This record gives sequence, C-alpha cells and structure tokens, in this order.
Amino acid sequence: MDNREQHLNIAIDGPAGAGKSTIARAIAETLGIRYLDTGAMYRAMALHAERCGVDPGDAAGMARIVNGADIAVRYDGSGAQHVLLSGEDVTGLLRSGSLSMGASMVGLHPPVRQKLAELQRQVGREYDVVMDGRDITTNVLPDTPYKFYMTASVQERAKRRYGELMQRGGTDKTLEQIEREIAARDKNDMERAYMPLRIAEDAVVVDTTGMDIAAVTERMLCLIHEKAQR
Ligand code: DC
Repeated sequence: MDNREQHLNIAIDGPAGAGKSTIARAIAETLGIRYLDTGAMYRAMALHAERCGVDPGDAAGMARIVNGADIAVRYDGSGAQHVLLSGEDVTGLLRSGSLSMGASMVGLHPPVRQKLAELQRQVGREYDVVMDGRDITTNVLPDTPYKFYMTASVQERAKRRYGELMQRGGTDKTLEQIEREIAARDKNDMERAYMPLRIAEDAVVVDTTGMDIAAVTERMLCLIHEKAQR
C-alpha cells in the first residue's frame, strides 16, 4: 500500500484572510493531528530571498538561491509548528506585512513551488495532517478525498485582518488599504501561470462570510465526518 493512504490528509485552499489557518488549527486540535501552515514556508522562502538580497519577483535570482534555502518544519511538545531557516527558528518573524506579498511573489516561480510542495508531501506521507495553502488540493495532495476551498468576500476578509492587527497593538493602515493589499495578493495568487490558486473539481467550497470561527469549525468537522463515512 502507498504510504500516503495510511494517513489522514485534509487539504484546505483559499485566498488570504478566509480563516483557513484558524479553522485548520482548530480541526487539527479536535482530531488530535498535525497542522501544516504552508504559507509560513513561502514566507520563510521570502525571508531567505530578503537575506540573500534577491528580489522575490526575480525568476533568475530565485532559481539561483532556491537550492540553498534550508527550510524545515518542526513541531514542539504542544503541537505548534516552528519553521527553521538554516537551523534558525524564524517563526516569529514570518507574519510581517512585507513578507505577505514577498511570499506571494516567491510563489510565482516553479522551482520554489516544486521544492516546497515536495517538503509538504513528505509531511503528508509521514503524519495525519491538516494542510492549508493555495495549491494543496490541486497539486500537493491531489489524491486525498478531503479537499476544501474556504473563501469569504474580500470586504469581510479585509475587516478580519484589520481586526487582527488592531488586537495585536494597532496598525497605521486603513481598512481600504488592507482591502486593496488583499485584492492584489488574490490576483497574484490566482493569476500566476504555474499552479495558481483555483477550486479543485472535487473540493467542497465553504464560504465563511458572516460565519464565526466555531460555526465554520463545526461545519468543516461535519463535512470531514461525512466524507469518512463513504
Ligand atoms: O497563507 P499565507 O497568507 O501565509 O500565504 C502567504 C503567501 O504565500 C500567499 O499569498 C501565496 C503564497 N503561498 C502559496 O503560493 N502557496 C501555498 N501553498 C501557500 C502560500
């Protein structure tokens, strides 16, 4: 039997701010399995580019440095994910606003996507895991029956992001600015030539507009259990 068939792999794709990471983490906790935030790996690659002095949009430059990017994922005793870049735990540096667009830009390049997708598949082969990102259902775990596309209106996603930033000590950006940034990142992620963000044919679409975290988590758990019955 293929190793992958022995593990529960739940794949969630969707645009920025749709609630994927919050919900994926809650599902993983409820099911007692791992959560892999693949966006953090693209963010680590963007940090690697920044440290190498390479523009994340520069295809030739990224092709030169991608092999030297030593990115690894580890889990601590509480199950939390840590991303290591050349052995350094960079987890705390990855959520910055500048790395958001940087991650989206490094994700344009096939050598970057191939390298990170392989690391992600390896996690799926080794563990029961909920993975979220932009090409998990379509590229990383195309054989899993557990495929979800989580989305929400761009206005709602911007409002959530704004709320998060305000809670974390405030922001000098306006809600409109945040909405424009999210829309630009959506466009970059959905219109890239190689492995763009799209809805897999057999994915269940979950629109979280107007729903709170508990309601979405419960809905997802119902859908997962339904699929497990088949
Ligand atoms: O999920 P996030 O916002 O942390 O992701 C940051 C960016 O990384 C996202 O805009 C596009 C890129 N990304 C990707 O291309 N593929 C993934 N599987 C995950 C993230």
